[in-house]
Amino acid sequence: MDRIKEKIDHLRREIERYNYFYYIRNESLVSDYEYDQILKKLNKLEEEHPQYKEETSPTERVGYSVKDTKFQKVVHKKPMLSLNNTYNIGEVQAFMERVEKAVPGRTLDYVLELKLDGLSISIQYEHGVLTRGVTRGDGEIGEDVTENILQIDSIPKYLKKDMTLEVRGEIILPLSNFDKLNKEREAKGEELFANPRNAASGTLRQLDSSIVKERGLDAHFYFIVDGEVLGIKKHSDSIKILEELGLKTTGVTEIISNIETMDERIKYWETHRENLDYETDGMVIKLNEMNLWEEVGYTSKSPRWAIAFKYPPKQVTTNLLGITWQVGRTGKVTPVAELEEVEVSGSRVKRASLHNYDEIVRKDIRVGDRVFIEKAAEIIPQVVMAVKEARKGTEQKISAPEFCPECGKKLMKEEGLVDLKCPNHHNCPAQVQGKIEYFVSRDAMNITGLGGKVIEKLLDLDFIKDASDIYDLWECKDELEKLEKMGKKSVENLLNSIETSKEREYSKTLYALGIPYVGKVMAATLSKSSGSIDILSAMTAEELENIEGVGGKVAQAVCEYFRNERNKGFVEKLRAHGIKFTYEKEEKIENSEKLLTGKTFLVTGTLAKHKRSEIQEMIETNGGQNLSGVSKKLNYLIVGEDAGSKLEKAKKLGTVKILTEDEFLAMIK
Ligand code: IVH
Repeated sequence: MDRIKEKIDHLRREIERYNYFYYIRNESLVSDYEYDQILKKLNKLEEEHPQYKEETSPTERVGYSVKDTKFQKVVHKKPMLSLNNTYNIGEVQAFMERVEKAVPGRTLDYVLELKLDGLSISIQYEHGVLTRGVTRGDGEIGEDVTENILQIDSIPKYLKKDMTLEVRGEIILPLSNFDKLNKEREAKGEELFANPRNAASGTLRQLDSSIVKERGLDAHFYFIVDGEVLGIKKHSDSIKILEELGLKTTGVTEIISNIETMDERIKYWETHRENLDYETDGMVIKLNEMNLWEEVGYTSKSPRWAIAFKYPPKQVTTNLLGITWQVGRTGKVTPVAELEEVEVSGSRVKRASLHNYDEIVRKDIRVGDRVFIEKAAEIIPQVVMAVKEARKGTEQKISAPEFCPECGKKLMKEEGLVDLKCPNHHNCPAQVQGKIEYFVSRDAMNITGLGGKVIEKLLDLDFIKDASDIYDLWECKDELEKLEKMGKKSVENLLNSIETSKEREYSKTLYALGIPYVGKVMAATLSKSSGSIDILSAMTAEELENIEGVGGKVAQAVCEYFRNERNKGFVEKLRAHGIKFTYEKEEKIENSEKLLTGKTFLVTGTLAKHKRSEIQEMIETNGGQNLSGVSKKLNYLIVGEDAGSKLEKAKKLGTVKILTEDEFLAMIK
């Protein structure tokens, strides 16, 4: 039994420490998800061993004591409670069943709202005038932050009606302002905020209220204190009243009465919340009939008539085991974090991107660190930051490599650019292999049966030196058949696929060359407007830039490519093998008056139902235009998994409509 008590004490201390950092220092030592799991573990132990229950346990209390606050302390008229939470839809159903059991024989409605990830606030209005703003604190006593609240533009100083009431809501920092703030801090060499919540909380609890004004906090309200006393019957009516008074609400108030619809709407918002300019970590479900709230009741820290459903975490912590320097097909050398495997957003992750060496230095990331990693549904896993508080002193600083880990050549850093590059473009094995993999890939020559392993073997055995040698492979058919895991049939298939690739159109063969910045759509533009590679290779940068959709970077890269004798030789070898480098007019269906006429699209990330190329074809068939990059000209961005920087850029622009694959399909149905 003592072992249990020890375990309980240990968990309580651990949670206290996390609480202190989260609520007082505005820092997170663990992700919200891990925190919730530890708290649940403690709760379970306490339930199983009630003799160890204590009022002071973090399972019984809300927030953190404000005893050392710099602000005036205020006792809340009504305690500010927290919400019980779950990550599991089955528990939402169990919650609904519990409520129904508590008030039997009633047909009940629930309100589904966004759960905003910020910090809660209580604001008092007297005769319509804002008189006080108080943080939650420990739920009983909060901090008077009125001066700061008055600096937040979206919180009205005067209500639209002469009413005396207290309202509660969430202070948040919009994502656009968060990005701006971190950029400014980066420029000044200041430490970055890990996420908008920490930034909002750090900002609101500033003594200098002019800083609050600059940072652009925002607030959304979801509760009227003692609404029942004011005669309000339904929670959905409270939300309407808040809006009528001029207060912003979460913007989502869906009245739902059954678990099936609840499940469906919760799933709907999981993807659609990505289009909002603020972070939501889940949805809140509240019993709509307020006159039943008392009957359903409360625990010491939360109402039993509400529950929060939280989405799988985008951020978790894990250990950084080491760094691998990866050399890509263009020679770019990227640090990749080798991690202790963890689950993030439903997938197992053991590698994450660190982008470049400058980022490692700026974030002061060391091998052995506990790190936060992030995998938003649409982004490649990234290392967000190191938890410096968790350092033991044994962590190792990371230094940039001087020489290419693949070929040993001295690395270069281009003027003004952060990336390290291996200059050995034609002989560095990683680059040679990368270029061949790209050449045979589906969007390029679409040669099947030539995976990374086979290419590596063919290079090792000197069967090929570059991609053009693939077309001579038939000469060593017998030797190929003898190779491990190859066999007669697969060699035959491979050789057939190589032969068929000679039919690929110019736009694909141009793409296959791997010219920097010339992606699929750009290759289509260039092939169509040049007509042949002879013309394209003779064009000046100026002429190239005159082509609609071609920018300076592309023009320069194309010129540079064809200036290089080796590249020219490579193209000639391919041509000698019968690869097409001239544009053949395909039959184009007349595009006028089609569903997507005049609309521009960009597809990014991995889609679930279709290949990217299929979606691009659907766009064209329906009269739409595919663009190669995010710009003001872009109307729609269709996003799949790992959408990355294009999505970020589109969000920043604010004018691009973001669609999921399903939304796009519905659009052309
Ligand atoms: S209702 C008794 N509604 O989440 C009512 N809370 O994890 C309790 N939150 O303390 C709050 N969005 O700071 C409510 N739509 C929403 C919310 C919300 C965010 C926060 C709030 C609460 C915390 C609990």
